[in-house]
Amino acid sequence: MKAVILYDSRKQGGSTEALIDAVGLKLAESGVYVEKAKCKALADYSFIRDFDLVILGAPVYYFIVSSQLLGALNYGNLKANLKRKKVALFLTCGSPESMANVLYLPQLKIHLVSNKILVEKIFPPDVLSERDVIDSFVDDVLHEYNRITKPRVLSAKWTEESQEWLQTIPSFLQGKFRTMAEEYADNMGYSEITLEMLELARDEMGGT
Ligand SMILES: Cc1cc2nc3c(=O)[nH]c(=O)nc-3n(C[C@H](O)[C@H](O)[C@H](O)COP(=O)(O)O)c2cc1C
Repeated sequence: MKAVILYDSRKQGGSTEALIDAVGLKLAESGVYVEKAKCKALADYSFIRDFDLVILGAPVYYFIVSSQLLGALNYGNLKANLKRKKVALFLTCGSPESMANVLYLPQLKIHLVSNKILVEKIFPPDVLSERDVIDSFVDDVLHEYNRITKPRVLSAKWTEESQEWLQTIPSFLQGKFRTMAEEYADNMGYSEITLEMLELARDEMGGT
């Protein structure tokens, strides 16, 4: 697997750079080929097509995520090149996590609606050099990456009732419904696909 850490910081050798070096080291120790690149708003980001995983991270200054990363998403070609990439996000900032989740992370996530975001993490200043916190972030990212990329063996069994229900919907939709229900059961840990589970899946997916 190939990963790139795209980061930004105003401060050379600051806390964000130290953090991404530690993240990069842990990824490399875990067998991942890893590169890092500091964002410039109008740089050409077509190189990220070669990577399986993109980790985006930056500090927050005066309530705004650092400007070169936001600029690359807003005005450059980063967003176009990130399409359908698996992404992990982190921010370094002094605010409490609850505030950062509401005020700062959405500044990045609004640009990433077509992406699978594996992990989001806020690093407050007091944990920036804590190896176990950094290792656990990387472990979470790799765990999620492996979970969603491993070939799936869908194992949940359909009950007789739910099989009968499936036959009541138009035949050209049955295959799609079957796959969606089996993936839902797999993700949620159901061993049986019952009518109740189908109702829950429908409610959560916003169906009618
Ligand atoms: C000028 C300045 C403004 C900051 N503004 C904020 C802010 O609005 N919200 C916040 O949560 N943290 C803020 N911080 C804290 C930084 O996000 C945090 O210290 C970060 O780790 C700095 O990363 P750096 O060392 O790579 O610059 C600010 C820090 C500085 C120096």
